[in-house]
Amino acid sequence: MRSHYCGQLNPALIGQTVRLCGWVNSRRDHGGVIFIDLRDREGLAQIVFDPDQAAAFAAAEGVRSEYVLRVTGTVRKRPAGTENPHLSSGAVEVLAGEIEILNKSEPLPFQLDEAGVNEATRLKYRYLDLRRDGMRRNLLLRHAVTRNLRRFLEDRSFVEIETPVLTKSTPEGARDYLVPSRTHPGHFFALPQSPQLFKQLLMVAGFERYFQVTRCFRDEDLRADRQPEFTQLDIETSFLDEEGVMTLMEEMIRQTFQTVLNVALPDPFPRMTYAEAVDRFGIDRPDLRIPLELTEVGDLMKAVDFKVFSGPANNPNGRVAALRLPKGSELSRKEIDDYTAFVAQFGAKGLAYIKVNDAAKGRDGLQSPILKFLPDEAIAEIMRRTGAESGDLIFFGADSAKVVNDALGALRLKLGHDCGLVAAGWRPLWVVDFPMFGFDSEAKRWQALHHPFTAPKHMDATVAIDPANALSRAYDMVLNGSEIGGGSIRIHREDVQEQVFGVLGIAPDEARAKFGFLLDALKFGAPPHGGIAFGLDRIVALMTGAESIRDVIAFPKTQRAACPLTDAPSVVDDAQLRELNIKLRKPLEPEKATD
Ligand code: AMO
Ligand code: AMP
Repeated sequence: MRSHYCGQLNPALIGQTVRLCGWVNSRRDHGGVIFIDLRDREGLAQIVFDPDQAAAFAAAEGVRSEYVLRVTGTVRKRPAGTENPHLSSGAVEVLAGEIEILNKSEPLPFQLDEAGVNEATRLKYRYLDLRRDGMRRNLLLRHAVTRNLRRFLEDRSFVEIETPVLTKSTPEGARDYLVPSRTHPGHFFALPQSPQLFKQLLMVAGFERYFQVTRCFRDEDLRADRQPEFTQLDIETSFLDEEGVMTLMEEMIRQTFQTVLNVALPDPFPRMTYAEAVDRFGIDRPDLRIPLELTEVGDLMKAVDFKVFSGPANNPNGRVAALRLPKGSELSRKEIDDYTAFVAQFGAKGLAYIKVNDAAKGRDGLQSPILKFLPDEAIAEIMRRTGAESGDLIFFGADSAKVVNDALGALRLKLGHDCGLVAAGWRPLWVVDFPMFGFDSEAKRWQALHHPFTAPKHMDATVAIDPANALSRAYDMVLNGSEIGGGSIRIHREDVQEQVFGVLGIAPDEARAKFGFLLDALKFGAPPHGGIAFGLDRIVALMTGAESIRDVIAFPKTQRAACPLTDAPSVVDDAQLRELNIKLRKPLEPEKATD
């Protein structure tokens, strides 16, 4: 039907007859001449309708936005001064000879170039939203990324193998999506939170290098970077240690950024232990573009006459930390109050601060509600450790280590953005030496920090004896403050796996019921193995500069895990429920999934 894409027209085609197909992006009537910008996947072309071509001109008069046209015409140079440098085809235009209206369009519910259309409307008419330039580019870039990743892995002997979607629960820390079984009344499949156990079984099967671009399902609280179904680039290898996996994966990400964005990421990526990340940034996925850091001051506060500080300073689970904001003394009272309210969301009971008006004057150069509690030596040492200068402001957090880390970690990010301190560019890093377990104080038990199949760093008895201090062989790849991938070397021995289940409080019969198939597989010559999974949506969102991963997913769910386009989830017939042997606890009014 067409000879060229609109976006591909160029001066080399001048004089040639072309046939274009596409949508009417805009129509302008310039008294006697009609201009139509015709749009297809590759871009725009300007079509000129001259009254001399009476039939085409008449047809063009009836054309409206988003009509689908086929136009035949001659490529010519645009008159001097009318070129459009923003279009790849901007030096030329097409003088229309024939026009065929392939389909009409009703007026759209929003204009494609309209800013600020609400997301519910965009998602309801996603096929129109995807006509927008930015969205189209996002999906095309996503394709370029996926294609590149696949090529990279194929070139290194990885094989893509599919794993089941109707399966059993895999513990990645979220709630499962369940699917009732008709043939086994009262039984449910779980949609996979990841292919974790299957990829390990593929290593036992001897495939050595597996990958899959695969959907994962997690029923969890949604955020800008979390969707209930999302895509992983999932990878597993045998006979590689963490060095081997990390080197290869780093190369893959570097190569992808180079190929798709022409960006050179650092070689090698820096590495940081979990402990260092949390100490310096309050978080295990630090955004290294922001130059602010937390400073330990607990040792200076043990004896101060201020319970708010001395309490946590003397508590082994407490922390007192400072965060220096260069030029922060310009902050108003109101701004400080707003930041205090901000950290309160993370459980902080206050946000003490010192304004450094004149660093040379010692105590007299400072201004703070807590100054009176602090001895001279402590003040001098705070100034020294934080490197405070005149004009700065130092914030303080004092509480349990968790509250201080969460609050100051989030404050650090917020200040970085509010104060324009986010450096341009790309700052990847590996975070390593994660603890094996974290204590869930509500459930009063240990939980796996990564997942229960992650190998401990030291294969001796420390895991069982000292869960609080056991480190794992897990690694996360972090880019600009986003966790883009996470993985580990796995447990490949049944006895170690049982030990870990023991710490997690999973009794042997429960372990058998849930993971018996894995424990069995580990008995039959399981090789040492390990891998990683990347959040493809997150990588593409970063690469496109999208604010949410929803903008790089063709048909995403809303924040409330619904699809305004199809109205899923929806109620089903009684007959269907009966067939599945399901009775709802209370009858539901037939209603639409609302958002
Ligand atoms: P993990 O749970 O860390 O590891 O997931 C791997 C990566 O997937 C991305 N991700 C998400 N992206 C969008 N929406 C979500 N709800 C979501 N949850 C996770 C993140 C994360 O780094 N089986 C292990 C991997 C392994 O050990 O090999 C796993 O799934 O970018
Ligand atoms: P107060 O004695 O409660 O008036 O607190 C004095 C200062 O300490 C105020 O600036 C509070 O915001 C701050 N503050 C109170 N609790 C904490 C805390 N847990 N961490 C940091 N600062 C706090």
